[in-house]
Amino acid sequence: MSNASSSAEGGAMGQATAKRGLWSSRLAFILAATGSAVGLGNIWKFPYITGENGGGAFVLVYLLCIAAVGLPIMMAEVLVGRRGGHSPVNSMRAIASQEGLKPAWRWVAAVGVLAGFLILSFYSVIGGWAISYVGTAATGQLAGQSAESIGAIFSGLLGDPMKLLLWHTLFMALVMVVVARGVRSGLERAVSILMPALFVLLLIVVGYAMTTGHFGQAVAFLFQPDFSKLTTSGVLVALGHAFFTLSLGMGVMMAYGSYLPKNISIAKTSVTVSIMDTAVALLAGLAIFPIVFANGLEPGAGPGLIFQTLPLAFGQMPMGSLFGTLFFVLLIFAAWTSGISLLEPIVEWLEEQKGMNRTVSTVGAGIVCWLLGVASVLSLNLWSDVTPLGMFTMFEGKTIFDLLDFLTANILLPLGGLLVAVFVGWTMSRKALESELDMSPGTFSIWYRVLRYFTPVAVAVVFVYNLV
Ligand code: PHE
Repeated sequence: MSNASSSAEGGAMGQATAKRGLWSSRLAFILAATGSAVGLGNIWKFPYITGENGGGAFVLVYLLCIAAVGLPIMMAEVLVGRRGGHSPVNSMRAIASQEGLKPAWRWVAAVGVLAGFLILSFYSVIGGWAISYVGTAATGQLAGQSAESIGAIFSGLLGDPMKLLLWHTLFMALVMVVVARGVRSGLERAVSILMPALFVLLLIVVGYAMTTGHFGQAVAFLFQPDFSKLTTSGVLVALGHAFFTLSLGMGVMMAYGSYLPKNISIAKTSVTVSIMDTAVALLAGLAIFPIVFANGLEPGAGPGLIFQTLPLAFGQMPMGSLFGTLFFVLLIFAAWTSGISLLEPIVEWLEEQKGMNRTVSTVGAGIVCWLLGVASVLSLNLWSDVTPLGMFTMFEGKTIFDLLDFLTANILLPLGGLLVAVFVGWTMSRKALESELDMSPGTFSIWYRVLRYFTPVAVAVVFVYNLV
């Protein structure tokens, strides 16, 4: 994808698709898209929101959201990107003009740029937690510790703004360096080695989790739906997470889709990416919950869940310091490739829209994200009782960090996805879609109907239920 990265650096508007360079292969696109999708969302967020929302029924709704909402929208986003052939904002504009629509549609992609800013700001703080745990694991501090002392290590980290700031800064810098240089070919290679490695390490932890004697309980917790535990807000969280974990609703898949060669099946690649992403999340659940139950921990412990459970496992298993260090290193890589994909659309937008060069746009956008991230850092300690929108019942008790997470995953991304679904399903001509997707008529019409009717209605209903 070397051509693609160099022309993305140029970022000029109005280039023909052919000139931008394409992914070297179907695998290259899958790797990049998986690199974006698999991240903290799968390993950090999925287990803790599953714990908070009571397990099985939540997982079932989440899986349905992936299949019936996420997948169709992913296909729609990739399609817009490939057909438009530009950055998300200009792809939307190009298609809108092809189809004789108002250029205002490009604002849909602008919602995405905003979401990217907000997500990266707190994502970087959590990426920082992972960096900090590499040191903790490598220096053998986890070995043989009790659940209490592992918990104390975590609260010690959260209570130390300077440390959090340092790691947040380092994570942000890592993301900025790659985006500024546009070295996506290097990234492609990195993803192809690191993703399988992460998968293997997760399998090792799952293997350990099987020895705790509580594996069956964890499987039941994850896969036996108890609908009495499901709330309407749980459904919103499951829907929002489907967008978050698949990197939808903010233009990432459009940006990556713009480099996809015409002869590659959008449907097959999207299905592959969704399956891999879901597999990682479920494996993370299977690794974490046996440890939770074996140690009498609270499944609903919140955002700290993996940092309070996995270190326990690494502290107890043979060669735990080694596996622990490796695990957190791989987690950083997974978060890094996602972080890069969060910053990339913003930088492309600044380049095309504001005519800034890549370095200036990266540094500018990175600093704004970093500053916002400082607010998240402080909301974990000094500002832990600051709840900016606390007067609304919906946002009651939410700190700045909670608020950013909630607003992006549960409002902005589904909204972005809904608009893409309407754009593709209702404004683009059926013929254009058919030629772009090249599926059998039967599967095409299923996808088309789901995108036109089911997706928008599902998102709208969940929104209305939660807002009213
Ligand atoms: N999908 C990423 C994860 O699960 C997060 C992300 C969201 C990345 C939106 C890009 C866009 O960690």
